[in-house]
Amino acid sequence: MPNTDDEGTMTPGGVLQTPKGVHDILPNDHEYYTYIKKVVRHRLRQAGFRRISTPMFEFTQLFQRAIGNDTDVVSKEMYTFQDKKGRSLTLKPEGTAGVMRSYIQNNMQALPQPVQLYYIEPHFRYDRPQKGRYRQFWQLGFEIVGESDPALDAQIIYLANLINKDLGIADLFTVQLNSIGTPESRKEYMRVLQDFYFDKERSLCELCKTRLKTNPMRLLDCKEENCRILAQIAPKISEYLDAESKEFHEDLKEYLTELGIKFVENPYLVRGLDYYTKTVFEFWDKTEGAQNAIGGGGRYDGLVELLGGKPTPGSGYAAGVERIVANMKREKIRVPHKDVIHVFIAQLGKEAKKKGLSLMSDLRDAGVKTMASLGKDSVRTQLGLADKFGAPYTIIIGLTEVREGVVIIRDMKVGTQKTVPFDEIVDVVIKLIGKQNLDTYSAGELTYE
Ligand code: HAM
Repeated sequence: MPNTDDEGTMTPGGVLQTPKGVHDILPNDHEYYTYIKKVVRHRLRQAGFRRISTPMFEFTQLFQRAIGNDTDVVSKEMYTFQDKKGRSLTLKPEGTAGVMRSYIQNNMQALPQPVQLYYIEPHFRYDRPQKGRYRQFWQLGFEIVGESDPALDAQIIYLANLINKDLGIADLFTVQLNSIGTPESRKEYMRVLQDFYFDKERSLCELCKTRLKTNPMRLLDCKEENCRILAQIAPKISEYLDAESKEFHEDLKEYLTELGIKFVENPYLVRGLDYYTKTVFEFWDKTEGAQNAIGGGGRYDGLVELLGGKPTPGSGYAAGVERIVANMKREKIRVPHKDVIHVFIAQLGKEAKKKGLSLMSDLRDAGVKTMASLGKDSVRTQLGLADKFGAPYTIIIGLTEVREGVVIIRDMKVGTQKTVPFDEIVDVVIKLIGKQNLDTYSAGELTYE
């Protein structure tokens, strides 16, 4: 077997690596993920949202219909495969399509509206891997379905900003805001755009030449220099919005101002998914702009109907968790976490190990985070380990201690030791650690129907 390959799946020594664009979330990064999940859950629960998880894969058709065949996501970036019966399935590239499919399939129309749902899940896109761009990435997202009012869009932007604030990164981003109107008003605008670009096609990049036929609005957010220059003199959608879309947008801006949210009106913001109507917005990095936007969203009043449900309005947002973590690190933000050890138990001999095992359970039940070396190392080696794990205290149990019904507790920083009766050691440790630092939890009481 060859021990290396050009895809980089193995090192020259034959050690298997992750595929391109995916990464492990190691314990140090999980400190951030856990904290972010806590903030998201807390802020969204406060606002009446409930959590939903949709499957990692769905029928390919769902994404084709919801996101649109001519979008980059569907035409280039999906992980699509056939199952053993030849059905076409796709790993979810985003969350909204699945949530709306679930809304219809589980008859959520019958629930009090609006239905407010949030998720925090891995998603998959066959993107070109680079900084902040992965092939498996986590998104946190939330959706308000079943009611149409600009105040709801304002709520969504407010909550997204609040989560960024809680994570210490809100000041790094600007809210970019636009309205792309109703599909009817957009039709007229697309015609105008095609007319505008008619004699300028030669100056466009290859991709935009195709987009001109399939989705001319995407020409407005192309990053190529020539396309950007042309976009700046192209007609603006705001001039083609119908009265309803205009009023909706004006109201949204008023509500945002009332909520103290600053925003930048951006007539070039169109988003890369076809389901949007009226409101679209993104959180842009103040220095890098659209590149590495931390999140984005908007209103999608036609999506439920497009998926076969009754006409139902909706609006939502999603952010990339890897990008949030990168920004928190850039700001040198550390998160509180509970991955610390309070006590290490070192023991010598089988009888001591038995005592150690039961003491370990008692300490853990009391909320003391306890580790032990249960192998056959010397006490010295075990003390060395306790140090490496950063335990402030070590409990030492040897044969003599077992016989006398005591344990030795060692303060690892100071190096002092004292002997404590076995029955009193849990209380002694709790006092040393401090009640407020114990890791006790309650999952809530079970009740029965
Ligand atoms: P999106 O703008 O495609 O929107 O993705 C939202 C966020 O996911 C992006 O701003 C970015 O932070 C993150 N993201 C996207 N692709 C990648 C990638 N390859 N690697 C790392 N992070 C990535 C949506 O997905 C919509 N479903 C949002 C929405 C919800 N609209 C309405 N409701």
